[in-house]
Amino acid sequence: MKQNHTSAIDRFDLFTLVFDILISIVGGIIVNRLIPILKEKFIRAQLWGYDLNKRNSREVKIAESQGVIAAGIFLILMFIMIAIVFSEHLHPLSDFPHNKFIEYLAALLSICCMVLLGFADDVLDLRWSVKLMLPLIASLPLLLVYFANYHSTTIILPKPVRPLLGHQWNLGILYYVYMSMVSVFCTNAINILAGVNGLEVGQSIVIASSILMFNLIELQGSCSEEHLFSLYFMIPFIGCTFPILLRNWCPAQIFVGDTLCYFSGMTFAVVGILGHFSKTMLLFFIPQIANFLLSIPQLFHFIPCPRHRLPRLNPELNKLNPSEVEFKKKDLKPLGWLMLRFFSAIKFVRYREYKMHDNEVMIATTNFTIINTVLCWTGPLHEATLTRILLLIQIIFGTALPFFIRYYLVKFFYES
Ligand code: UD1
Ligand code: MG
Repeated sequence: MKQNHTSAIDRFDLFTLVFDILISIVGGIIVNRLIPILKEKFIRAQLWGYDLNKRNSREVKIAESQGVIAAGIFLILMFIMIAIVFSEHLHPLSDFPHNKFIEYLAALLSICCMVLLGFADDVLDLRWSVKLMLPLIASLPLLLVYFANYHSTTIILPKPVRPLLGHQWNLGILYYVYMSMVSVFCTNAINILAGVNGLEVGQSIVIASSILMFNLIELQGSCSEEHLFSLYFMIPFIGCTFPILLRNWCPAQIFVGDTLCYFSGMTFAVVGILGHFSKTMLLFFIPQIANFLLSIPQLFHFIPCPRHRLPRLNPELNKLNPSEVEFKKKDLKPLGWLMLRFFSAIKFVRYREYKMHDNEVMIATTNFTIINTVLCWTGPLHEATLTRILLLIQIIFGTALPFFIRYYLVKFFYES
């Protein structure tokens, strides 16, 4: 690892990367072996759920929170990696890079904290307001290290607005608010784009692969150290979560739990913030941003939000239909009505009105998630096909489009 910013990686970095890849493969194999052994224990500890979109859904108990196995092995791999990354500096005459070391420790502390809170959520089924607060607490170590090491809260403005607003802005404390919002968003955004087998972990792996590709491209650039830092996290992440995807794929043998959603979200937030590419990283979340915006009416209760918004199975066809929520029209506030009309006009939800026998007017609308939107557009789909389409959307809008924006469009907005 280098002390100063240099443009290329040296032989020691290359060795570290190869080592990282090797232990990630070993980590993946260990996770794969551990799942069958541990999942029975999880079920015995009452950590299980029904797979709601299967014909025999009430007959099979499926182990929940299996993401904690991936997270546990990931943390162990990262502890080993720290020793390797810093081994170059263990010589007594060497100048030990304490700042960098603290960055690694804070990153792991934040991730570790989030895994613990995610597991607590799985066990205790926490309220939404509490769920939102958890990442805020877990991101504190990260923000402190950012404060101590960088302290830079200036952003460069895009070219079109420069004549009006100037070349750059110092956001000050707002920059810290922005960073904690990134953590809150990343963790919860994955959790609310969920409900069909393979989706939570599938989207996490696509996002991690996008970050990995971005880091590899940027390794030649002037901030190679930050991108190396991110690579050291992303490679074991993919290694440890891949076996989870294999077993969570339809028909699921395990569920990932909120643990995995929070673990992935926090890992991405950590590398985005400490690697100084949080804006590019948010581009990899375009589908999640769309899903969050679409979810706002239900998350903030302008429209009733049921416990589960996942699609509903049509048992005869063994295909999924969009799930619906029903409520009295007179209970809908004007803002809720406006949101319903807006999203229905752009065809993201479908609603119908009908009368009860007591002449009460009712509204039935599809739930506000892009999972249901896809089903509105395509008609009934098999669960695995739906997951494939959603992952394809992730690859097109969360990988291809961001790279186009980052390496092509950005020229027109930032470079002179
Ligand atoms: C979030 C979503 C909720 C969605 C749920 C599915 C919001 C506000 N919340 O809630 O709409 O229904 O995730 O994960 O958008 N399950 C399946 N098949 C799957 C995955 C999950 O049937 O492929 C069911 C299982 O019964 C499992 C349960 O969902 O036990 C897990 O739900 P949980 O993660 O606790 O829900 P939330 O994250 O609170
Ligand atoms: Mg969940």
